[in-house]
Amino acid sequence: MDFLNDTALAEFVDAMPLPAAVVGADERIAITNQAFDQIMGVGLAGRHYITALRQPALIDAIAQVMSNGGTAYATYLTRSNGGDASYDLHVGQAGRAALITLTDRTDAENAGRMRTDFIANVSHELRTPLTALMGFIETLRGAARNDPAARDRFLGTMEQEAGRMTRLVDELMTLSRLEENQRRRPTDRVDLGDVLRVVSQALMPIAQAADVDLTIDAPDLPVTVLGDAAQLQQVFTNLIENAIKYGAQGKKVVVTIAPHSLISRLRARGTTITVQDFGDGIAPHHIPRLTERFYRVDDHRSREVGGTGLGLAIVKHIVNRHRGRLAVTSELGQGTIVTVTLPKD
Ligand SMILES: Nc1ncnc2c1ncn2[C@@H]1O[C@H](COP(=O)(O)OP(=O)(O)OP(=O)(O)O)[C@@H](O)[C@H]1O
Ligand SMILES: [Mg+2]
Repeated sequence: MDFLNDTALAEFVDAMPLPAAVVGADERIAITNQAFDQIMGVGLAGRHYITALRQPALIDAIAQVMSNGGTAYATYLTRSNGGDASYDLHVGQAGRAALITLTDRTDAENAGRMRTDFIANVSHELRTPLTALMGFIETLRGAARNDPAARDRFLGTMEQEAGRMTRLVDELMTLSRLEENQRRRPTDRVDLGDVLRVVSQALMPIAQAADVDLTIDAPDLPVTVLGDAAQLQQVFTNLIENAIKYGAQGKKVVVTIAPHSLISRLRARGTTITVQDFGDGIAPHHIPRLTERFYRVDDHRSREVGGTGLGLAIVKHIVNRHRGRLAVTSELGQGTIVTVTLPKD
């Protein structure tokens, strides 16, 4: 590298898109760029690489290149912003010196972990109804073979469990389709009054069965937003269904459309839809987690009413795609208000 003086070399290292450092022939760190300093700490230049870097894996990789040439790799683990961070470290020979570069692997590793968690959750959710089904099949073959009453009861439960699995698979497919078109903003003009009328009609039987009075308070004029009608129906189906399922003791569910209200968080006028129930409410520490996949407040109770914990995850995805906001406020013993705000068309 005779054609480069030290200043020019430092400029090249600074211009690199990766965190980078040069270890000189004297085994001292000659140059670091800013990105490198941010990760490894400032003030390493001038120090011997062994005392400066300390992690044995990094030191071994550099030592190998300094004595044998060629290239070497290592993994650098650290903590940043309170989380674990992971980098691929590459050491390449540059004459009698060595060039060190770092590649951030943290996001890829987190994505991998999320995928593993997700598969574990799905398997667990499917395993529970499957185990129940297997048990009932065995009983029907054996003890309940000649007992028509028991057989009917078991078949009813089996139907429920199969229904739960179907729902789970449907919801997972909805989520994966949503992820595909997350970035494409919907372009149809949709009347929210229409959406809510369709949804409330479909849910009326469930409301009646739960002895809940479901009312929709919408203005007479159309309230249009740019949206995807089927997806918005899904949003309000999930929210109203939750209000009926988990708020039934309150005996009523009120849905309100407030057009063109000022939304300070959006810094714009928009349309606010609230779904309010008067049931048990949700404890504050659960609220931030409700939109996580498979998150249920009361695992047992939610399971009993057939919940998979995906409903609000789907709602969140759809609202995001519409560039809207989702907010949950709740008071124990008083009830829950879920607010969806959609930007004005
Ligand atoms: N209105 C509400 N009142 C009290 N708890 C609620 C209310 N809405 C949701 N929850 C709680 O939040 C959890 C998550 O709701 P979510 O709709 O995501 O899942 P789910 O209803 O369990 O299943 P799914 O909607 O997929 O059938 C529920 O299990 C329930 O415990
Ligand atoms: Mg739900």
